[in-house]
Amino acid sequence: MKKIDKIFSKGKSMSLDEYLEKVLYDKNIGYYQKKDPFGVGGDYITAPNISNIFCEMIAIWLVSFWENLKKPKKFHFVELGPGNGDFCLILLKTLKKFPELYNSINIMLYEKSEKLKITQKKKLRSKKISWIKNFSNIKNGPVVFFGNEFLDALPIKQFKKVNNLVFEKYAVFKKNKINFTFKKAIKKQIKKLEYYKLLQNKGIIEYPEYGFKELDAICVKIKELNGGALFIDYGYNESKNISTLQSVMNHKFNKFTKNVGEADITSLVNFELYKEYFFHKGLIVENVISQSKFLQRLGIVQRFKIASNNMNDKEKSDLYSRLKRLVDPSMMGENFKVIFTKNKKCDFSLAFK
Ligand SMILES: C[S@@+](CC[C@H](N)C(=O)[O-])C[C@H]1O[C@@H](n2cnc3c(N)ncnc32)[C@H](O)[C@@H]1O
Repeated sequence: MKKIDKIFSKGKSMSLDEYLEKVLYDKNIGYYQKKDPFGVGGDYITAPNISNIFCEMIAIWLVSFWENLKKPKKFHFVELGPGNGDFCLILLKTLKKFPELYNSINIMLYEKSEKLKITQKKKLRSKKISWIKNFSNIKNGPVVFFGNEFLDALPIKQFKKVNNLVFEKYAVFKKNKINFTFKKAIKKQIKKLEYYKLLQNKGIIEYPEYGFKELDAICVKIKELNGGALFIDYGYNESKNISTLQSVMNHKFNKFTKNVGEADITSLVNFELYKEYFFHKGLIVENVISQSKFLQRLGIVQRFKIASNNMNDKEKSDLYSRLKRLVDPSMMGENFKVIFTKNKKCDFSLAFK
């Protein structure tokens, strides 16, 4: 706890999202600045770490999108929050099998963690790939954004409504401990909440202000250049009126005031809220579907069958346990959902119809 007090100026409190931003990304104590959280030796496992076939499915989806856009000679792909680079490695390998697209594509990685950027640069040595800090240099040619478990990693604000009064959650450092408290929300903030139909009549409100800020620039690019954005994440369509913040460490749940800077903290994604947000931005949004449906419609089961053809029983059983993890409704299949938003003139909807 010693270093944590450094992020609080004396006796001061900070809003929940500001606090989350600091414990996850502060240069000195931030979780993502010092830890490699992925895989068995880390804190959690994501779909690209479970199976390359997950990445291949997204690559196939991207090839189809490019074809739908009439095979543009210049085509941009931005991965948001590329983690340990596993996804991009397989994407690149798969796209090499489609030389026309491979020659047209420009791949950009948008990553906040300096530590993870080093990991990615070691793994991904290709002239096709560059790292970007913002989206302003994306020009000429349609753009597709992709984020797997990107939205859940962005800090959220929390509010509670009591007798029509709105209070915002703050973090305070007192007596060597982090405490949370609610303060009356400022008018400007209440106005932002009132803008969203979905946030009315809720006692507990989670508001992804950081997420919306990140997406504002993405929406502008999709409108300007054509294309879309695909997000896969764990989350819900209907709010249960509860706090969805969660923390994990070594693959186990962690009390989120404990192991600050050593444990990951995320929240569940409110997909219907993002849908409303994209509509407000003038984009089209396909229906939110489960990861299970999405991957099966792209042919993941058939791909696993082909991949297992020359395997022995042990390898087959390992491969099928990975498939199960990705698509079984009781595992990632239903908890993980997929949202696709696109330019109004775009009619691509593979896997969503
Ligand atoms: C949960 S990890 C997912 C990693 C990877 N997509 C995967 O599926 O394995 C979240 C990733 O998003 C990055 N990230 C979080 N907030 C970010 C932001 N505001 N800008 C860029 N990257 C961010 C993290 O550093 C990390 O690489």
